[in-house]
Amino acid sequence: MELAGRDMEIEAFDVLRDRAVAGRPAQSIVLYGLRGVGKTVLLNELADRAIADGWITARIEADLSGERTPFRNQVAQSLNTALRHAQGRGVRSGRLRRALSTFKAFSLTASPDGSLAVGIELDPEGGRGDTGSLPADLTDLAIDLADAAIDLDAGVALFIDEMQHLSLDELAAVCQACHEASQRNLRFFVVGAGLPNLPGLLAEAKSYSERLFTYLLIDRLDPDAARAALTRPADDEGVEWADDAAAVVLDAARGYPYFIQQYGQTTWNAAAGSPITAVDAAEGVRGGRVLLDRGFFRARWERATKSERDYLAAMALDGDGPSATGEVASRLGRKITALGPTRAKLIAKGLVYSPDHGWIAFSVPGMADFIRRELEQS
Ligand SMILES: Nc1ncnc2c1ncn2[C@@H]1O[C@H](COP(=O)(O)OP(=O)(O)OP(=O)(O)O)[C@@H](O)[C@H]1O
Ligand SMILES: [Mg+2]
Repeated sequence: MELAGRDMEIEAFDVLRDRAVAGRPAQSIVLYGLRGVGKTVLLNELADRAIADGWITARIEADLSGERTPFRNQVAQSLNTALRHAQGRGVRSGRLRRALSTFKAFSLTASPDGSLAVGIELDPEGGRGDTGSLPADLTDLAIDLADAAIDLDAGVALFIDEMQHLSLDELAAVCQACHEASQRNLRFFVVGAGLPNLPGLLAEAKSYSERLFTYLLIDRLDPDAARAALTRPADDEGVEWADDAAAVVLDAARGYPYFIQQYGQTTWNAAAGSPITAVDAAEGVRGGRVLLDRGFFRARWERATKSERDYLAAMALDGDGPSATGEVASRLGRKITALGPTRAKLIAKGLVYSPDHGWIAFSVPGMADFIRRELEQS
């Protein structure tokens, strides 16, 4: 896959790792942005780089609340593999043994049957990581792992996708672990990705979170990067995009990677050969729109209940937004406070977010247009 236009973010994380291993302070990173802008692929790229450098890494995706896997279990499960690898590197330092013991205690607290500590041979260390209180235990674990990472010439990074789905308590625990590690100048970092409400949630969880994280807005691709995202995969197969064909797709995609990908794919399928023409592109965009409506947009629309849809439809009058919550309420003939629960559920479902007090916006680019099309048809 071509990861276009994200050199700055990749560089920021390269610098973080260099500083960390040199024993210099560095801030954790939060990537935030709308749906489909490329947060997950970027997070994966950063994780791959950390792994290539021999870092102890864990990668998790926070669940929507409900019947979710507890955060502690997710952390334990995902670290298990990384620690078995670290164990296999033959370093037999006291610090590594201690970290493995703490990990085992942490895991056994999550799952007493030992299923999350497979292959870790050491005894759980008494009193580290097993109090049952997430902030305390995660902090113990972060500190001991980061300490052990010194012997591996590496660091520790916890990658959390869809981080806005963590509860405030879980976010506070993550902040505390980062904070305590950084106070001790230890190399434990979080790289989080989530919707635009994530920085606000972190601030709510811990007032000092602003100082812990570098917040990077992941936005649409600029024109050169968008063009590269579209044409380089074809280049690799020896297929060329005519300039006017690329322009048709890039115009329709408005710099959003997910749309570039979709229209690029449908155009590719429509094209007879090289070069891809403007006629192919027009057909590809038409077909791509149909698929986006059926999948990307409809999947989200169907996640909303009737009253939530009414709320979204009232927002859609403002296009991509944002909308004033008071205005939305008056369109629906209701009081703002009466709509609080509906708004909260839409936020919890990740369909909308609040960019500022009294404002609400779609987290899905193009959702307003979809809703208008949808309502015209019915
Ligand atoms: N920089 C990029 N260059 C080329 N393609 C990209 C880039 N970023 C993302 N893509 C493509 O766009 C699509 C969406 O990316 P991704 O799933 O990472 O978005 P996201 O921000 O995580 O979305 P969501 O909020 O829905 O999880 C993917 O198919 C990916 O391959
Ligand atoms: Mg994602």
